[in-house]
Order: sequence, then C-alpha cells, then structure tokens
Amino acid sequence: GVGDHIASRLLGWYDAHHRDLPWRIAPRELARGIRPDPYRVWLSEVMLQQTTVEAVKSYFRAFVEKWPDVEALAASPTEDVMKAWAGLGYYSRARNLKACADLVARQGGRFPDTQAGLRELPGIGAYTAAAIAAIAFDQPAAVVDGNVERVVSRLVSIVTPLSEAKGDIRTYVERMVPATRPGDFAQAMMDLGATICTPRRPRCMLCPLREDCSATVSSDPERFPVRRPK
Ligand code: ADE
Repeated sequence: GVGDHIASRLLGWYDAHHRDLPWRIAPRELARGIRPDPYRVWLSEVMLQQTTVEAVKSYFRAFVEKWPDVEALAASPTEDVMKAWAGLGYYSRARNLKACADLVARQGGRFPDTQAGLRELPGIGAYTAAAIAAIAFDQPAAVVDGNVERVVSRLVSIVTPLSEAKGDIRTYVERMVPATRPGDFAQAMMDLGATICTPRRPRCMLCPLREDCSATVSSDPERFPVRRPK
C-alpha cells in the first residue's frame, strides 16, 4: 500500500543519510541479523526522553563504559548512578533507571520483549516501550514523538490542532510502519524530523518524501503542525 511506498523511500534515505549515534549499530550489521543490545537501547531512550541528542552522546558513552550491562548498573549504589547522571536533568529518570535495572537484573537480566511487558517497568511509558520494542526487538511498533508528529502533520497536511490530532497521527504511523526494519523506520522518522523536516525552514528539497508530501515548499510546511489558537 501507500504506507509501504513511504517506508521504502524513507529507509533508502536512512541507509545513505542516517546519523551515526553511539547507541546505534550499522545498518549492514542489522542486515546480517545482528540486533542492538536492549540494555543500550533502553538506556539511550530514557536519556533521550527529555534531553537532546547532542547532550546525551557523552553521557551515554560514559554510562556504557562504566556499566556495560544491566547487572553492572544494578550492582552499583544509586548514589553513583545519580552522580553520573548529574547535568542531564529530570533526576527522577535516574532514580527510575536504577529501579528498572534492579528489577530486570533480579528477573534474570533480560528486558521484556513486548510493549506491555516493558511498560510495567519504572520509567518506561508508551513512547519508550514502543521505541525499545521496535529498535531492540524488531517489532512493528508505532513510535511517535514530537518529531514524528511534525513529519506526519506535514505529510498529510493535518489542519486540526495537534492536541486533537494525535490519535489520527498515530493511525497514520501504524499504517506506515513496515513489517521489515521497523526499528530503522522509527529512527529514520526521527532523523528526518531532526535534520530535514525541522520546525523552522525545513529542507524540503532534500526530503525523500517530497513527492508524497502535501506540504512541500510550494505551499507552507511551517504551517504544520497547527497549534490550537488561544
Ligand atoms: N530520539 C529519541 N530516540 C532516538 C533515537 N533512537 N535516535 C535519535 N533520536 C532519538
């Protein structure tokens, strides 16, 4: 369907233009059946919940060097984790991170491989559960953050204010998620939103979805997503 067409264009673009980020493994490794470590996916997604990619990079590297797996993190005192987190902000994330590591370590060191199972863990909400399911476990989960909401709002020119359109946006994403490479699809949507389909002055000329998009330069992509008038 239309969704598959969009996903295949987006994945082709991602293969050529994905950002090299410390929590990612190379697409050619993925193609050989190698999966990212759920621990690293979880750690990066919790850090990225309220912090920018640029700020997270060095913290992520320091954490995985100090605590290479969930058992190592569980074995350290909360105080050490809080110290390593200092500067990232939203410190309840660090407390939940440690509580989650303790739980997972006690349950044998494996993260649950379903969205429902993941959501039962401290600090893991709907977004993070979907991201881990798609990226670490190759499941066709709809991963919807602010970037993705903007991309979809423009793609289909959603004129309803964003606060009321979230259900529709989720439905569009669910239809677009491909059966193969759902984790790359999720991260490709994030990269597109961060580097091309930016809030201001989107670079539509470079967009792989240009021909599919109803809000290209000829119209006014910055109009989307529409905010509720006050
Ligand atoms: N923001 C949240 N998760 C991300 C990821 N996996 N890659 C890039 N940006 C993100």
